[in-house]
Amino acid sequence: MKRIGMLTGGGDCPGLNAVIRGIVYAAKAEGWHVIGFKRGWKGILQNHFVELDLKSVADILPRGGTILGTSRTNPYKNDGDAEKVRETIKKNKLDALIAIGGEDTLGAAHKLSKNGMPIIGVPKTIDNDLNATDYTFGYDTALSIATECLDRIRTTAESHERVMVVEIMGRHAGWITLESGIAGGADVVLIPEVSMTVSEICGYLVQQRARGKNFSVVAVSEGFAIKGEELVTAKKEPDAFGHAILGGVGDRLAKLIEKKTGYETRSTVLGHIQRGGSPTAFDRVLGTRFGVKAVQLVKEGLFGHMVSLCGRDIVAVPLAEAVGELKTVPADMYDLAKTFFS
Ligand code: F6P
Repeated sequence: MKRIGMLTGGGDCPGLNAVIRGIVYAAKAEGWHVIGFKRGWKGILQNHFVELDLKSVADILPRGGTILGTSRTNPYKNDGDAEKVRETIKKNKLDALIAIGGEDTLGAAHKLSKNGMPIIGVPKTIDNDLNATDYTFGYDTALSIATECLDRIRTTAESHERVMVVEIMGRHAGWITLESGIAGGADVVLIPEVSMTVSEICGYLVQQRARGKNFSVVAVSEGFAIKGEELVTAKKEPDAFGHAILGGVGDRLAKLIEKKTGYETRSTVLGHIQRGGSPTAFDRVLGTRFGVKAVQLVKEGLFGHMVSLCGRDIVAVPLAEAVGELKTVPADMYDLAKTFFS
């Protein structure tokens, strides 16, 4: 009988509970013992865990967030913490540890696995910016929410003949903004991958008014940098992984647009609404398949690997491929969105 542990790290994300449930069901089918560490890497460092059985995962499939809790704890921030992970694995006689997370959690998982720890990764993030998988779970839900919000904002933009700037999550990659912008018919889409001046942005808005459209919806990623200005951040200090804590570019942009064009402009921040609530059917199914496959990888001893969606298949890829570089929006996808700016 094997003993496996799991953790959920980084920002919470719809579909995490589907993964946890998938792991527990698949592991129990093998007759294995499962524990879940609380609050990401923090729980491992403190050896704080709960026993997981079929009863503990009953009815969690449609629930957002994570029953294990999460944190942005970095096991490589303080000297000696990485060795504490090894001690916790040893103390609990774990045959494997499944780390469910995004670039930071899996980056740490990769380093720990290079140091000989039996780790398997599961790719999670609403940003969909992890390489080596077609999709991460959570993205589809966030995209659906952002699209619905753009639809709702549009009615106010139209009624008041305003420019409505909508700030959407996406730290380094603008996937949610790009695809919700396309799906929600945004008039300008601004992503971290492509910087632009306020004059260029206003140029599109003026052009739209000139052809008789008297309102505009601008979809902007929180990580978008206005050309010629500093990146707008919500806090001065970065997080434990050194990332800027973003927020505020929508508001900044709205002020600049109003000043330059004279059009009445408002901004809305979607923020954590995009990460909250029940996952879509797609994310529930993807999360479930990832969880079940992660147990299969433990069975096969494929440590240092991550489960991944490749076309219709769930496969194993080396963690190194997932964490090397982020999957950002390619130029041709952005060009497609730009078709609708004029
Ligand atoms: O990584 C996912 C994400 O939602 C990013 O889009 C965003 O920048 C960040 O997390 C926000 O993190 P927090 O929940 O710590 O504010």
